[in-house]
Amino acid sequence: MRYLTQPPHSETLEVLNIQQQEDLADLQQQISDGILSSSPQLPSLLLWNDEGIALFDRFSQSPPYYLNKKELEILAHQGDDIASRIPPNGVLIELGSGSLHKTSLILSACERQRRPVLYYALDVSIGELTESLTSLMKRMGPTQFVKVRGLLGTYDDCVAWLASDPKMVIQSSVTFLWMGNSIANLQPDDASLLLSRFSHICTKQGVRCQFIVAADACTHKTTIMAAYDTTKRPLHDFLLNGLRHANTVMGHNVFQTSDWTCAVEFNDRANVLNTYYIPRRDLQLDINGIAVEFRKGDQVLAITSGKWTEKDFHAVSVNAGLHIADTWRDMSRIYCKNVPNPASR
Ligand SMILES: C[S@@+](CC[C@H](N)C(=O)[O-])C[C@H]1O[C@@H](n2cnc3c(N)ncnc32)[C@H](O)[C@@H]1O
Repeated sequence: MRYLTQPPHSETLEVLNIQQQEDLADLQQQISDGILSSSPQLPSLLLWNDEGIALFDRFSQSPPYYLNKKELEILAHQGDDIASRIPPNGVLIELGSGSLHKTSLILSACERQRRPVLYYALDVSIGELTESLTSLMKRMGPTQFVKVRGLLGTYDDCVAWLASDPKMVIQSSVTFLWMGNSIANLQPDDASLLLSRFSHICTKQGVRCQFIVAADACTHKTTIMAAYDTTKRPLHDFLLNGLRHANTVMGHNVFQTSDWTCAVEFNDRANVLNTYYIPRRDLQLDINGIAVEFRKGDQVLAITSGKWTEKDFHAVSVNAGLHIADTWRDMSRIYCKNVPNPASR
């Protein structure tokens, strides 16, 4: 299915809906399973509806959130070099594209380099995807070499789409761009598995592929805790929106947001930041007719953010059958953009 939407200026924006039918039922099941689990958690996908992506954008621009600034620094100084790694006439798919603020730096470099690229922004929410792509096209102005499209769906939907008929759109090569440390919202093994699924499907389809992945390698606890301060509005509002979205998905009010607050914990042995929903009082939740009790102060995992050292990132790549061909770092060397390629190439 195609959505054709008309941005305020002349060009037509094409967004392809690649969602699988069963996505909503899956999410309902994940909510039930997560709440009933002995280590309660909610699927992090709940954080990413239209409101969530906009709230995250506000949070990511807050001064202590160093990730955004460090990544912009890398793109400002090394964006030309990064863009030069995208093969001409190739497809560029941005995984979890979000607000697209950083993307224009890469696409503008492609345009300056007269590098023909068909760019797809992949994200899960049609409203934000359309709005972000429309602003991106406005910021970039008319382009001769870069074509911009949207893909509505999850990472899994994208694997399925590529398995279906990529030759229609991908003639020779695909570069997956994954920014904002989104890769480390997955557990390292799951990240390796997803990278290898993308890589294998491309190999099977006879398409060359590579990845450009941004990873936060900061392990300085004070810096991290200051960036993810749940007592401040931007992060607090972003997280609580996930509970409202859970109510929408479940079709009734499972969570009263006034009953919940949030907290973060940095595990410095595993280099991972865990973000939790915390009940403000003893509660009973109704999950499809099953009463689930929570005590005041219990933890329900909302999302994790890995802070992988270069060694950790190397391990994730190797486990996916990839090798790191290149790395760009910010001046303080806490943020990296890496290019893992299939090892056989
Ligand atoms: C941490 S934000 C990063 C946004 C943007 N890439 C950046 O660098 O600012 C994660 C993005 O990934 C998207 N996302 C999360 N899980 C996803 C999934 N399973 N499939 C597709 N997109 C996903 C979210 O909607 C969100 O826009």
